[in-house]
Order: sequence, then structure tokens, then C-alpha cells
Amino acid sequence: MKERRKVIIDCDPGIDDSLALLLALKSKELEVLGITIVCGNVPAKQGVQNALKALELCKSLHVPVYLGEETPLKRELVTAQDTHGEDGVGECFFEEINGGIVKNGAAHYIIETLAKENNVSIIALGPLTNIAKALMKDKEAFQNLDEFISMGGAFRIHGNCSPVAEFNYWVDPQAADYVYKNLGKKIHMVGLDVTRKIVLTPNTIEFIEKIGGELGKYIKDITRFYVDFHWKQEGIIGCVINDPLAVAYFIDRSICRGFSSSVEIVHEGIAMGQSIVDAENFYKREDNAFILTEVDFKRFMLMFLERLFPEKINLIQNTQGVM
Ligand code: BDR
Ligand code: CA
Repeated sequence: MKERRKVIIDCDPGIDDSLALLLALKSKELEVLGITIVCGNVPAKQGVQNALKALELCKSLHVPVYLGEETPLKRELVTAQDTHGEDGVGECFFEEINGGIVKNGAAHYIIETLAKENNVSIIALGPLTNIAKALMKDKEAFQNLDEFISMGGAFRIHGNCSPVAEFNYWVDPQAADYVYKNLGKKIHMVGLDVTRKIVLTPNTIEFIEKIGGELGKYIKDITRFYVDFHWKQEGIIGCVINDPLAVAYFIDRSICRGFSSSVEIVHEGIAMGQSIVDAENFYKREDNAFILTEVDFKRFMLMFLERLFPEKINLIQNTQGVM
């Protein structure tokens, strides 16, 4: 087997972040070095608890969790508790997890890890505040970064916080703008153009519950609130799970297609949080991003289910009505 790829997962769990953590922790290609938590869907301290729950379910409580920024760089925090529930995991109000390794200083951890380890990548599933803070403190450390994947932004598709803005970049547009301008590496932008196509339908959720034991029940429980929200807000049956696609794409590039371009993030005014993609190369700037525009839904879903429930591969591949 090829060497496992080292990753830090920066996230704001969150229902779909939690699903992304499960996928990452259950994928043998990845070595999750640490999880850094940023405020976003919920206040950061609540995000820590939710990350621990995902770690516990995957028997991975040895992976350290770092508390990160509790407010965006300039704006006040606007959470997405209307979408993810008061506790960020569909109002399941799980008991506190005993055990696990929880520390302060996400930005410091990111810098330290990049300085001492080679070939570390970052998969960012929340607002980019931790990353911006780390970059501001030590830009040089990022020269050692392997790849940077960010779930965020929207190219041709409508936003989910305004007609043009996606949540992660809208919550902290200054941080997103700073990271796009200063990372010095192409950012893989896994935006709403592709993630909106990743809908977990009631059929699939039902199937997951039937085959998945404790993990299946957890997924069914945390997504119920999310499904109700999607029906009320967007008229969708099921729920859009954005963040696991960023992990899946990191593991298997053939799941998505896209193009290179230069991107900047609007950080104030009516279009705050919008990702402006210079697709026609108007500004003649150096490309700083790879924008995903197409996704193979079935390939994603197969990967997701097979990784989470490897002992049920036969059923996953053969049961009708699942995908
Ligand atoms: C992003 O916003 C959050 O609510 C989700 O966790 C995802 O990271 C989608 O816009
Ligand atoms: Ca997220």
C-alpha cells in the first residue's frame, strides 16, 4: 500500500463536518495528524465536543483536537445553528465525551506541524480564520505545506448566505480573502457548484441506518434536523452534505473536475463573501486556485458508504434504490 498522506483537518463541526471526519478517519490512505476547530457552524468550544464524538465513534480518540479561533477576524460570529441545530449535531445533545486529547492553540499547532513534518496537507471545512491566523504569524511555515483543500465559495451557482455568498467565506470574508492572497499555493476550491450535488436522500439515510449499527444510527440521528431544514429552506428532500466531498476529492481526484484560475473574496458590502473567479483571465493574474465544477455523484457516494461500512460492501453495491 502507498504511504498514507498526512493531513490536518480544520473544521467547524457541524453535521456535514462530522460526516467528513468519519470519512477521513475511516480512510486508510489518510493519516489524520490533528483536528483544528474554528468557530463557524457553532461556537468553537461546541465544535470541539462534536469532533470528539466523531473520534469516539471511529475509535480514534488518540487524535488530538485543537481549539482555535472563537471569533472571525473582524466580523462578529454568525453561526449556522438554524441549519445544524443548537449543538451543531442536529440537537441530539450527546453526552460529553470522556477522554480524548484537547488542547488550545490551533494556529500554533498548524505552524508547528508544518515546520516539523514534511508533506502535510490541510483540508479546511470551515471559515478560514485559523488558517489566516497561522499564515499571519508564520508565512514561511506554509512553504512546507503539501496541498490545501478548502470547502467554500461558489462560482456559477447561487450562494447559501446571500444570492452570491457561501457560508464559510461569508462568516469570515477577511480571513478567506487573506488566505487566497497569501497562501502561495493553489487552493483547491471545493465550492457549492459541486457540493450542492451531494444530497444524502432519505432512502440512503434509511439504508445507512439499516446496515450501519451504532454509526448508522448516529448518522440517522444527526441528519434528521438537517433534512427538515433543507425541506423548509430549499425545498430539497434530503440534505446537502458539503464537507465530505472535500475529503473524498483529496483521496481520489477523479471524483471531480475543474479548472485553474485566479480567485479573490469580496470582504465587505452587499456581495460580502462572494468568491470572484476570473475564469476568462481578465486580470492576467497568476492562478491561485483550482475551481471544481463537476462531480461524479455515484463515485462519491460509493466511496462514502464503502469506507464507513466496509463490511457491508456487497449490500452497498447491490441494494436497489440506495443512490
Ligand atoms: C459549508 O457551511 C457549513 O454550514 C457547512 O459545514 C459547510 O462547510 C457549506 O456552505
Ligand atoms: Ca463546515
